[in-house]
This record gives sequence, C-alpha cells and structure tokens, in this order.
Amino acid sequence: MRFLSSRRRHPAAKALLLVLGLIVMGALYTVFAPAPQVSADTGTSQQVAEGKALFAVGCASCHGLNGEGQASGEIQGPPLAGVGAAAVDFQVSSGRMPMAKPEAQAPVKPNRYTPEEVAQLEAYVASLGPGPDVPAPADYDPANVSAEDVARGGELFRTNCSACHNFEGAGGALPGGKYAPSLYDVPNRRVYEAMITGPQQMPVFSDGVVRPEDKRAIIAYLNTLHGQPNEGGLSLGGLGPVSEGLWAWILGLGSLMGIAVWIAAKGAKAK
Ligand code: HEC
Ligand code: HEC
Repeated sequence: MRFLSSRRRHPAAKALLLVLGLIVMGALYTVFAPAPQVSADTGTSQQVAEGKALFAVGCASCHGLNGEGQASGEIQGPPLAGVGAAAVDFQVSSGRMPMAKPEAQAPVKPNRYTPEEVAQLEAYVASLGPGPDVPAPADYDPANVSAEDVARGGELFRTNCSACHNFEGAGGALPGGKYAPSLYDVPNRRVYEAMITGPQQMPVFSDGVVRPEDKRAIIAYLNTLHGQPNEGGLSLGGLGPVSEGLWAWILGLGSLMGIAVWIAAKGAKAK
C-alpha cells in the first residue's frame, strides 16, 4: 500500500490506471457478454479457412474450387456465391449435399458432417457473397403462435405450398423425375430455410411475400397437422377429394349393391 500511495503522483500513474481499468473492463466483458451467435457473417477467418479445406474435399468436384460452379463434367453444380449460409445448412444438414451421384434431385440422407464442420462450410460459402443467414430459433420456433395464427398458417399453406406439397404436406411428384418431398417430420429450422432459400423448383418466399410471422404460422400449422394422431381408419394418402371420392364410390355404391343383392335374395327365398 505504501508502495502504491508513494507512487500515486508518478507521471505514469494515470496511464497505468487507465490500462488497468481497461483490462478489468475487458475481463468483465468476456465474462458477462452474451455468447456470440454462431453465424456465418461473424465467422472467423479460421472458420472460413477450415470450411474452404472441407469444401475442396467434399464439394469442389461439382461446385468448382472457389464455389464458382461448374459448366461441364458429369455433374454440374451451380455457383454458390450469394446462396448464403442458410442454403448450406439446408442442403448439408438434410444430407442432400454432398450429392452422391448424378440424378434428377439430391435425396435426403444422413448428414456425415459434424455441426462444427457444417458451420465451417457455411462460413466459407457465406464469405463468397452475401446471402440469407441461418435463422435463429426465435425465427422458426412456433411456441408462441396463437390458435388463430395456426389457422392463418393453414390458409397460407394451402395457397402457397399445397400445389406442390399436397394438402396435408404429404408431398407429390413433379415433372422430370423430381418431387416435392413430404413435410412430415421435417425439423422447423429446415422448413424456414426451405422458404428463404427456395431449393430446386421451390420458389423463394421472401419476407415481403410471406412475412417472418407468416412463416412461423405455417410452421405452427405443419406442427399441429402432423402432431395430430391419425384418428383411426385410413388416411387415404391425404389426397383430398379425389381419393375420398373414390372410396365413397367403392364403399357407398358397393354397400348399396350388396344390400340390393341381399334384399333380392331374401325376397326370392320368401317366395
Ligand atoms: C456430385 C456433385 C455435387 C457435390 C459433390 C456437391 N454438390 Fe452441391 N449441388 C450439386 C447440384 C447438381 C446442385 C443443384 C441441384 C439441387 O439443388 O439439388 C447442388 C446444389 C447445392 C446448393 C444449393 C444452391 C442453391 O442455389 O440453393 C448448395 C448450397 C450446395 N449444393 C452446397 C454443397 C456443399 C456445401 C457441398 C459439399 C459438402 C456440395 N454441395 C457437394 C452438386 C453437388
Ligand atoms: C413449385 C413447387 C413448390 C412449392 C410451391 C413449394 N415447394 Fe417446398 N419444395 C419443392 C421441391 C421441389 C423441394 C425439394 C427440393 C430439393 O430436394 O432440393 C421442396 C422442399 C421443401 C422442404 C424440404 C423438405 C425436406 O425434406 O428437407 C420444405 C420444408 C418445403 N419445401 C416447404 C415448403 C413450404 C412451407 C412451402 C410454402 C410456403 C413450399 N415448400 C412451397 C417444391 C415446392
């Protein structure tokens, strides 16, 4: 203490105090600051470098060494500048990418990258050009969506999505050997990412067209629809009026004919 007080008026004391203060502030900040979002935009250069290395091994054969795309070769991967981290997360965590063989559409399969590696790939592709970022849980979590909004989500789904994905989200075929997949058991984040990145024939539903709260309402609707236990009986593939009509014909007309035959047989016996 004597040591300190005797040097309090030293010319360097103020500067030292300032430095000390800054160090304490820095330490406090690192303790109390919220953990940084793992986001491609804030991806460290090391993350980008590791992503680039992974990309060279797993993706460059189709997308080019710098993600510039490939115009010739067995499989022509599109350029990736500007597709954004969200597209990488959608494609890689659903196992669509890396594509295994030439086919009309990359199928969903187990993802072989760890979450860290996926984040590195995202950071690298995001560094190629600005694009949609991976959504935060608050964007796609439908926990606070009201029952009214779920109904609105259903309407939005029927107008925007059911043409390809069927009324119940059971999926459907598209021309050229392609298909809109079933939306059963698709994680909420992936549903959100599909809407903001528009994979393959699916259009991009920008926030101007389908607002973020509408996207959440659609997700909430899908959750309630698919969380509902099947009320017994056949779902008839959820194909709507066509298959239901067919069953009405077979069962309805069939039983009427059965009854008619039975009455006729009884009548014959009574005579
Ligand atoms: C065998 C070739 C092949 C490999 C390997 C491959 N891709 Fe692809 N990729 C494609 C093709 C073809 C498409 C376009 C068709 C589609 O979307 O299904 C595509 C589409 C994509 C898209 C969507 C682009 C958009 O416009 O939304 C992303 C993102 C992507 N690839 C990332 C990757 C990443 C990351 C890897 C490595 C982990 C990878 N790909 C490996 C062939 C490949
Ligand atoms: C023009 C047809 C079309 C429309 C309209 C459409 N989609 Fe899609 N959707 C597709 C196709 C095709 C794919 C498959 C893309 C692929 O495999 O690369 C897809 C994929 C998806 C996936 C990914 C599923 C999975 O298994 O990973 C989700 C989720 C999705 N769509 C949700 C929606 C929602 C929600 C809407 C309405 C807001 C919608 N789609 C509208 C054609 C469509």
